[in-house]
Amino acid sequence: VRTVPDAALVWRDGCILWSGPRTLLPPEHLHADTVSAGGGLVVPGLIDCHTHLAFAGWRADEFEERILGRSYLDIARAGGGIQRTVAQTRAASEDALFERCASHLREMAALGVTTVECKSGYGLDVEHEVKLLTVYQRLSATQSLRIIPTLLAAHAVAPEFGGRRNAYLRLVTRDIIPRVVHAGLARFCDVFVEEAAFSLEEARRVLAAASALGLRAKLHADQLSDGGGARLAAEVHAVSADHLEQISADGIACLAAAHVVAVSLPFAALYLGARPMPARALLAAGVPVAVATDFNPGTAPSFHLPLAMTLACTLQRMTPAEAFCGATLVAAAALDRHDELGALDPGYAADFAVIDAPDVETWLYHFRANACRQTWVGGQRVH
Ligand code: NIG
Ligand code: FE
Repeated sequence: VRTVPDAALVWRDGCILWSGPRTLLPPEHLHADTVSAGGGLVVPGLIDCHTHLAFAGWRADEFEERILGRSYLDIARAGGGIQRTVAQTRAASEDALFERCASHLREMAALGVTTVECKSGYGLDVEHEVKLLTVYQRLSATQSLRIIPTLLAAHAVAPEFGGRRNAYLRLVTRDIIPRVVHAGLARFCDVFVEEAAFSLEEARRVLAAASALGLRAKLHADQLSDGGGARLAAEVHAVSADHLEQISADGIACLAAAHVVAVSLPFAALYLGARPMPARALLAAGVPVAVATDFNPGTAPSFHLPLAMTLACTLQRMTPAEAFCGATLVAAAALDRHDELGALDPGYAADFAVIDAPDVETWLYHFRANACRQTWVGGQRVH
């Protein structure tokens, strides 16, 4: 991370033209309109590269049950967990979900976030997966943050299928994926690879169908158990492998060899009382590590990305600079957008935040409700 004291940033038409020390500003920019950052720290807009933004309800009662000793999987097996949120999300109208997401996005913008990856996965049938992704499409068209939609139909087997896993997978591969792709509603396809969710073989089927129609893979991998999810991410050239709390040494080597970005989700580890992702081992092996919130109603009930960055430092021993890159340029790489988003260099989008701190270390160390003073997306002030 390079900090430039007394810096200038020049942009036009939403795109950065020049950045560097103010004294070196090229003469052609001397007469441009100016805005002052008031002595604040100007950083690339934060990128939350893993959220489950659209859902109805919360599961605070399960939070309490887990504190009292019941496990996430026990609660899920008894009909709680993802299935409970699916029932509530199916019952919610598209407009109600839209309003709720819009309000979350306004608060995220206030924290300095400018791009948000948004997964479906609480619909689990054609109608409701399309409903969630349509919410994201409408948000993309009507509010200022950049939205990157991901299809996560393989989050759980839909309740009406009971144990008929193959029938549900047929629905996903033959109906949901084609519908979503033809409507242009998703950029990536994610699968929850886990003993309690989908096997490696099932994930391969889903990802093959998605890839045939142009969706690149992202994976929820090795979260609750090491099921070989990281190896699969490497095999299918996923853009990212996320969670990885239980990743094996072999999994780390596979991600490194295949240049897959590892996405760390410290809130999920914190709220489940689980061991966090071994970020140091991944970084030592040369795997880029992004940091995201995993915002969802069950395991990560917060979209406070700066706090997730601080937790990446305290729980995973990432340096503040590593956590900062993890929520900017590396997060952009986890969305395959690192040529346009996540840096303040010429050619990048003019997405940035003004932080009330002298440097990144102080920002992530001195935790405050909100240290962000201004947020800009595409050269327009949004907060
Ligand atoms: O990323 N791991 C799977 N999906 C979510 C949790 C979903 C839920 O519990 O509602 C996650 O942690
Ligand atoms: Fe997640």
